[in-house]
Amino acid sequence: MKGVILAGGLATRLRPLTWVTNKHLLPVYNKPMIYYPLEAMARAEVKEVLLTSSSDHSGDFETLLKSGEEFGLQLFYAVQENPKGGIAEAIMLAEEFAQGERIVVILGDNIFNFDLRSAREKFEKRGEGAMVFGVRMPTESKQYGVIEIDSSGKVISIEEKPEKPKSDIAQTGIYMYDETVFDKIKNLSPSARGEIEVTDLNNIFVKEGTAICELIDWWIDAGTSHDELLRANNLVYEKVKAGEL
Ligand code: G1P
Repeated sequence: MKGVILAGGLATRLRPLTWVTNKHLLPVYNKPMIYYPLEAMARAEVKEVLLTSSSDHSGDFETLLKSGEEFGLQLFYAVQENPKGGIAEAIMLAEEFAQGERIVVILGDNIFNFDLRSAREKFEKRGEGAMVFGVRMPTESKQYGVIEIDSSGKVISIEEKPEKPKSDIAQTGIYMYDETVFDKIKNLSPSARGEIEVTDLNNIFVKEGTAICELIDWWIDAGTSHDELLRANNLVYEKVKAGEL
């Protein structure tokens, strides 16, 4: 399995912090934000990782992370020309890199510490499909994709930021896909906000009946707002002091 970390976008919601830098380079407690998904890849024993970013900051990532040796990873870099292209369009940049292997995708501003390695083993034992990761968020789920599952964890539906959520499970930015993912993306069209949506991609697997959901205990999307960034700093501080991260 190969890894893909998405670190592009304009991060307009975090301005003025992001006028001259990429949000994934901002600090979260004692490290740049991008370190957390990289460390998650290393914990999952995914060795080869492609990092996608936008052209204006891709050099900064290379200066900071170099070959990835510090993390025990082999890092590769790709540039997403259209910073508003969306998550699924950025995943598409990994087609050649994947070379027919399955991929795990992590959004560069996602912080968590659950055992991605056992999830990976579970996913690899399955013949096909996608694995999405959800977190219970009773009051905030409608700011995210919302995942409806059956008692076995099979996904019944995913709706992007619905007015009336069908469950309290928010879709995180962690996804595992089989090798059909790239052909599926090629069939997608941009949504109303002009992006190739990851939820549309995941729903193709849902329609096939091959999408399953793993629930995780805590997760932060550090890059959505100034408040979430502050919350991420405080929570990571607590987790590090408690030896949990
Ligand atoms: C994206 C996905 C959404 C998911 C979220 C997780 O939203 O579209 O389904 O819940 O990432 O961070 P965006 O941050 O692009 O609005």
